[in-house]
Amino acid sequence: MRDLREWIERLREAGELVEVAARVDPRLEITEITDRVSKGGGPALLFTDVAGSELPVLINQFGSERRIAMALGTDRLDALGERIESVLDLQPPQGLVAKVRALGRLRELASFVPKMVRDGPCQEVWLDEPDLDRLPVLTCWPGDGGPYVTLPLVISRDPRTGVRNCGMYRIQKLDGRTAMMHWQIHKDGAAHLRDSEGRVPVAVAIGTDPATTYSATAPLPPHLDEMIFAGFLRGRSVEMVRCRTVDLEVPSTAEVVLEGYVDAADLRPEGPFGDHTGFYTPMDDYPTFHLTGMSMRRDAVYATTIVGKPPMEDFFLGKATERLFLPLIRMTVPDLVDMNLPLEGVFHNCAIVSVRKRYPGHAKKLMNAVWGLGLLSLTRCVVVVDDDVDVHDVSEVAFQAFSNVDVGRDMLVTQGPVDALDHAAPYFAYGSKVGFDATRKWPGEGQVRPWPEAIRMSDEVRARVDRRWPDYGIPGP
Ligand SMILES: Cc1cc2nc3c(=O)[nH]c(=O)nc-3n(C[C@H](O)[C@H](O)[C@H](O)COP(=O)(O)O)c2cc1C
Repeated sequence: MRDLREWIERLREAGELVEVAARVDPRLEITEITDRVSKGGGPALLFTDVAGSELPVLINQFGSERRIAMALGTDRLDALGERIESVLDLQPPQGLVAKVRALGRLRELASFVPKMVRDGPCQEVWLDEPDLDRLPVLTCWPGDGGPYVTLPLVISRDPRTGVRNCGMYRIQKLDGRTAMMHWQIHKDGAAHLRDSEGRVPVAVAIGTDPATTYSATAPLPPHLDEMIFAGFLRGRSVEMVRCRTVDLEVPSTAEVVLEGYVDAADLRPEGPFGDHTGFYTPMDDYPTFHLTGMSMRRDAVYATTIVGKPPMEDFFLGKATERLFLPLIRMTVPDLVDMNLPLEGVFHNCAIVSVRKRYPGHAKKLMNAVWGLGLLSLTRCVVVVDDDVDVHDVSEVAFQAFSNVDVGRDMLVTQGPVDALDHAAPYFAYGSKVGFDATRKWPGEGQVRPWPEAIRMSDEVRARVDRRWPDYGIPGP
């Protein structure tokens, strides 16, 4: 999809969008409406009359399994994961046909490098005075410290390597030209500021095509440009246009662009913010974002989201990451069969993984692997089950864990970095993690008694009862 407008049309045609013409307040009212809609699995919403701003507000665009798949141009997220796997399959090709195919794949990858264009619609309206008050920035929850831009693509460059990064970090509006940049300690934007001489030029794009928006949330390694990944997902490279007041580029079809710099010497309290954990994240010091430029498309649409107790829109963005990145994880941890980050675990609190166990302690090896992997390393609780258990059936996983764990033997407690939003850890971003080995135990793992067999009816009797069910006169299965 070319831009947010094409996406809105697609949503409309698919019956996945409701336009709300009634006047609504960006302060709390939009949250309450959207929360009710997203908890009920409802549609994307386009509010066309928002008090205090000319811009309509799009929200909940990713808020269902169907919409996140549509957003990424697939009908099955796993299929997209398989496409990523095939592109990154680094086996040396055997034979001429395989070599030609491998070359084709490399050429395909090269075609997704972003394309520079001279003009972009995102600069149709240039504001001589940058003014955040023009935007319908939501105040999401009653205890929030102010209004927040919640779906921004924050673009900066690594001051050492020059590699671009694009991450989604909320921005708290202080006044028309000043805001707070909430890039957390483990994120690439924060690393850019740490490695800089105190100031980092930043451009913020709001309202892009959905694959590009999603890419800002994806946990890519720092040397991989999110705009290449976005090009791969949408099947054509992202067109970028040069900013006017900073040496950065932004997606040319963005609805709104903010230009400026983040200043490490100007730290101020950010928050509180009703976060995706379901709790308020308290105030903490973050660097200030000073605006030096601002532009918009004609008739711009403001894209945003709300987070809070799940399920909400961000749960589906996280699910996409889980499915798309699983094949990549398997490249370094091939014994990890499947993974589920259940919604009750709000991403960082719980990962359920399955293993095809081959040696004693294999499940514990997997826990340690998870604690060594990118942002997954922040996972507070890892549950490992055998590969014949469906990790997505949380009730079945709980049954296995409650039944199979002897805590003295099967529980591993360790310490290390935890998520910046983890409020249970005694220290900021540092705490304990636990792993539960819920697999069947072997003698080599200290199981001195025979492990019991799970109860299952014989196939012969099951087939007979299936066949004879109508004879019994019992309604139902
Ligand atoms: C809706 C939404 C809001 C987010 N807000 C923040 C935020 O305020 N700060 C932050 O550090 N990460 C936030 N994240 C998570 C990051 O976008 C995510 O970790 C991403 O991979 C960071 O990019 P990076 O690896 O390039 O730093 C948010 C994610 C979503 C989906």
